[in-house]
Amino acid sequence: MEYSKIQDKDISYFKSILHENVFTDEENKEKYGHDETEDLVFIPGVVLKPSTVEEVSKIMAYCHENNLTITPSGARTGLSGGALPLYNGIALSMEKFNRILTIDEKNHQVITEPAVITQLLQDAVKEKGLFYPPDPASKGSCFIGGNVSENSGGPKAVKYGVTKDYVLNLEVVLPTGEIIWTGANVLKNATGYNLTQLIVGSEGTLAIITKIVLKLIPHPTQTLLMLVPFYNAEKACEAVAAIFQAGITPSGLEFMERDALTWTQSFTKDFSIEVKENHAAHLLIEVDGFDSEVLMKECEQIMTVLEQFETDEILFAESEAQKDSLWSLRRKVGEAVKSQSIYKEEDTVVPRFELPKLLERTKAICKKYGLHSVCYGHAGDGNLHINIIKGELSDEKWNNELPIAIRELFTEVVKLGGTLSGEHGIGLVQQSYMDIAFPEVSLNLMREIKRVFDPKNILNPGKIFN
Ligand code: LAC
Ligand code: ZN
Repeated sequence: MEYSKIQDKDISYFKSILHENVFTDEENKEKYGHDETEDLVFIPGVVLKPSTVEEVSKIMAYCHENNLTITPSGARTGLSGGALPLYNGIALSMEKFNRILTIDEKNHQVITEPAVITQLLQDAVKEKGLFYPPDPASKGSCFIGGNVSENSGGPKAVKYGVTKDYVLNLEVVLPTGEIIWTGANVLKNATGYNLTQLIVGSEGTLAIITKIVLKLIPHPTQTLLMLVPFYNAEKACEAVAAIFQAGITPSGLEFMERDALTWTQSFTKDFSIEVKENHAAHLLIEVDGFDSEVLMKECEQIMTVLEQFETDEILFAESEAQKDSLWSLRRKVGEAVKSQSIYKEEDTVVPRFELPKLLERTKAICKKYGLHSVCYGHAGDGNLHINIIKGELSDEKWNNELPIAIRELFTEVVKLGGTLSGEHGIGLVQQSYMDIAFPEVSLNLMREIKRVFDPKNILNPGKIFN
């Protein structure tokens, strides 16, 4: 597909709609040229910041008419390159859509614009005793619209589900400029194809989200948190399924390999946890609910299960401050790894019971190719973030051998019944592996869906499929 280059006449048109919210200066173009994905930069031709759905609609219709590419952009915290504006196209920053519109306490719903920071949304509904659980590591800076676009997860997903489980309805602008609602503000909906869930996780390739209706639940009043050191990382992974098999559903069950924890301690300068020489990995386990006695019992049951898995002394968080600091350490692992070296982040997911095999095979493949990996993630979901570290490796090895190793890794993941990404999306950086997860017939179905929504392939082109 040949796209048009952005010209002066296009900029004039955008200024006639958006006035001062059209940016062509280098600083803005640089800023909107990257997200959190590795060290990738794609400079847009122009940055647009609309503030109404009508403006988005006009811009989209104009791009459709004139064959200009457009990439929606949120807080740019993504890890698969979803917000990178390829082809020097338009970066459409949604940041002005930053209002929570209605907290509907009678129906346990919230209607929000997409550029509300996830944590602020959670705090606002918590004031009413309500809970929006999905909590990606970047919850303090990411936007809810980005979470919907990527179907984000986070630690709470293990008990409460991911973003898709809370999205009831969306107002979106289609690539042709029409504005639609995808469903209704209801908890059940068997009316036609599920357009809402088609947009969720579509990584900004099918439509631009302008309003979001989310389901809420009562906010739990109590949590207990423990950090468990293991002498053997695979044993830590084995313990995960055993906890569920004992009938417990923790509200967080996170795995951190030794390096993940110690690198994060160095990064945050928080050494409050003693990591001994023989600690190979840790599980961070949280239970939540409304009755502290029930939670104490659950912790006792968990500790009984853990007896079979060779653990060292368990640390129980004694205060809310200690809980916060443990969670903060966990949430900063990604940043800590990024600060160490160029790296490649995989977001593999397997059925929970297969997690030990996933870890073992990851390490075997890395050994075979001479790669160092740091693994951590949402163990309760079978979702392992595998960070492969460039360190001193040559560019040649990194560019030529790494993709072969990753292909081998993904092939093993799929053999274990898993898939390529649990919560980060495919975006730009994982698309060359999609053939491992899907046969051509399935990929063609997806391409056809994309064509129906976006016949000219102008909305976030170059993502998910190559
Ligand atoms: C995390 C992000 C990287 O779990 O998904 O920290
Ligand atoms: Zn994660």
